[in-house]
Amino acid sequence: MINKNRVKISDILSSDWLDKEAFVYGWIRTSRFSKNVCFIELNDGSSFKSLQLVIDMQSISIDESKMQTGTCISAKGLIVKSPGADQSCEMQVSEVKIVGLADETYPIQKKRHSLEFLREIPHLRCKTNTFFATFKVRSKLAKAVHDYFQDRNFLYIHSPIITLNDCEGGSEAFQITTLNLKEVKEKGLDYSADFFKRPAYLTVSGQLEAEPFALTHGAVYTFGPTFRADPSDTPRHAAEFWMIEPEMAFYDLDDLLELIEDFIKNITRKIKDNCQSELEFFKNFIEPELDNRYAVLLDHKFERIDFAEAIEILKQADRKFEVEPKWGEDLTMEHERYLVDEHFKKPVFITNYPENFKSFYMRINEDGKSVACVDLLVPGIGEIISGSQREERYDFLEKRMLAKGMEKSLYEWYLQTRLWGSAPHAGFGLGFERMIMYLTGMKNVKDVIPYPRAARKIY
Ligand code: 4AD
Ligand code: MG
Repeated sequence: MINKNRVKISDILSSDWLDKEAFVYGWIRTSRFSKNVCFIELNDGSSFKSLQLVIDMQSISIDESKMQTGTCISAKGLIVKSPGADQSCEMQVSEVKIVGLADETYPIQKKRHSLEFLREIPHLRCKTNTFFATFKVRSKLAKAVHDYFQDRNFLYIHSPIITLNDCEGGSEAFQITTLNLKEVKEKGLDYSADFFKRPAYLTVSGQLEAEPFALTHGAVYTFGPTFRADPSDTPRHAAEFWMIEPEMAFYDLDDLLELIEDFIKNITRKIKDNCQSELEFFKNFIEPELDNRYAVLLDHKFERIDFAEAIEILKQADRKFEVEPKWGEDLTMEHERYLVDEHFKKPVFITNYPENFKSFYMRINEDGKSVACVDLLVPGIGEIISGSQREERYDFLEKRMLAKGMEKSLYEWYLQTRLWGSAPHAGFGLGFERMIMYLTGMKNVKDVIPYPRAARKIY
């Protein structure tokens, strides 16, 4: 056992340790020296708040140059009431030892570093307040997601990472191979020598594989990594990100919207209740309007509009958009931002998009030109969710696949779910990182995932 007397800093800060001795481990966040006293902010990972250590350098000899940001120490001392306004208690140190030194070459110093600089050192940025708080919210949000679905008896299904199909059809899938590319260049491409003897990809979405399970267990969800070789390097696009994809039998589009709103409000409330210190930090240093973000999401019903209504609102707007909004063409980022940030200023569901640029699996509406789908847009981010009622009618699905030029043989198994015991069903996908961005105010998807991967950049 490392030291049976070790106390976690969270315990000292949250319970009554006054006038008791404690022994702690931790890393120095900051240190400052004034006259003969050394003040250290010590963090052991157990709480966002650090414990202040006060070392009287007249009775304890320490080497100032070693007591710097990043160094790991152990300390023993009495917990006393703190005269400072920032903390309720502090440790009067009687013994201190260096466990692991971080010398002056340690890249993270007391001063504030830019997020771009920190992105280059993901193995070290996690030690800063900003990332400590971000990954705490990420972890709590993952628990909230699982709790939401598990409490409602959804089956958690692990959809495969390696697939043969491209669910979203945008040819954004990473192909995987064991072929030696140098040999391919010399001898030509021969799939019979490849691992699967056919082209294989990293999944862009677990939806197609989740659907048969929804048509068995009634309600299921996936929560796992997905991959997109999207060449655009934007603050909202990562090459590797996590998605949550629930899929429910006997659901239509209205049922789906009800579930999405309840789910998003539920997980947001959990973060508001369970991450108070972290949210206080984000409000002070990252996004001053954070409280308002929670209020517009939690206190009102989400707005619901049809794609056709969205186009009307954009046409009436007193501004010229780079791309003129029109039926039959997708909304641009600029259109979305106008609708959600300027017009509604709260979460908006946009439903029933034109079928021509939407995925093959979405259920065609009676008008024959739109599909029963939804995008959820939120202020400051834009799209966080896409979902739809699925086309459960074999003939309609087959027709749409062929019209989109898809290779039917790859989707025979998917079509079969409509051949035997088909049923109306619906589902959606939430981008986990985008939700974290909304809840923390962080502005770049690369800053809410521990080790970001994006076009031309692997950190
Ligand atoms: O809109 P998408 O492409 O929808 C699907 O994949 C459906 N199969 C979901 C379903 O119905 N089960 O992706 C869903 C969400 C987006 O709304 C966005 O939040 C996120 O995934 N997303 C990304 N997040 C980060 N980086 C990227 N490159 C992303 N692409 C999509
Ligand atoms: Mg989408």
